[in-house]
Amino acid sequence: MSPASSARSEKNIILTGFMGTGKSTVGQLVAAELDREFVDMDTLIEAREGRPIPRIFAEEGEPYFRQLEAALCAELAARQGLVIATGGGALLPERNLRVLDRTGLVICLDCAPEVLWQRIGRSENRPMLAEADDGRFRRLAALLEQRALAYARIAYHLDVTRLSPQQVARRVVERVRGWE
Ligand code: S3P
Repeated sequence: MSPASSARSEKNIILTGFMGTGKSTVGQLVAAELDREFVDMDTLIEAREGRPIPRIFAEEGEPYFRQLEAALCAELAARQGLVIATGGGALLPERNLRVLDRTGLVICLDCAPEVLWQRIGRSENRPMLAEADDGRFRRLAALLEQRALAYARIAYHLDVTRLSPQQVARRVVERVRGWE
């Protein structure tokens, strides 16, 4: 491996995208395949806070959670060689995207709303979707639309609508290897 490529291989791989796109599952598979450390931002925030995300939202409010995310983006940006799965809203603020983008490859996983709905429509632990039952699909579709511009700022996208987590992981690994 040339010095240049070995330096590049220390860069982080950051998976982002809407809730239910499979960031955490894919991230674990990619980390295992590349023998890297995996960091799930939501899991780390929950462990440090000693409470699950719905409780953080309920007890402290969304802005508090967003501050934790921003601080964690900055903290992780100081590290190398990680595979990181962000929460679905973590890289919506452009500053968070820029801070992590400088440290490696950010890949946004995209998925059709109907498939997301099948995966997370009934999820109890997603406060951003908390709505009366008949409003949940509309809420999901509206959030996707609101976030489209922010996700579009990300250079690399992968449509996971028809792919298994294993297939997505394989494509991520291929992209990383092509980039090294
Ligand atoms: C959120 C997504 C969640 C979690 C929190 C907020 C969002 O993560 O960070 O509930 O704003 O999209 P997942 O994308 O892993 O569900």
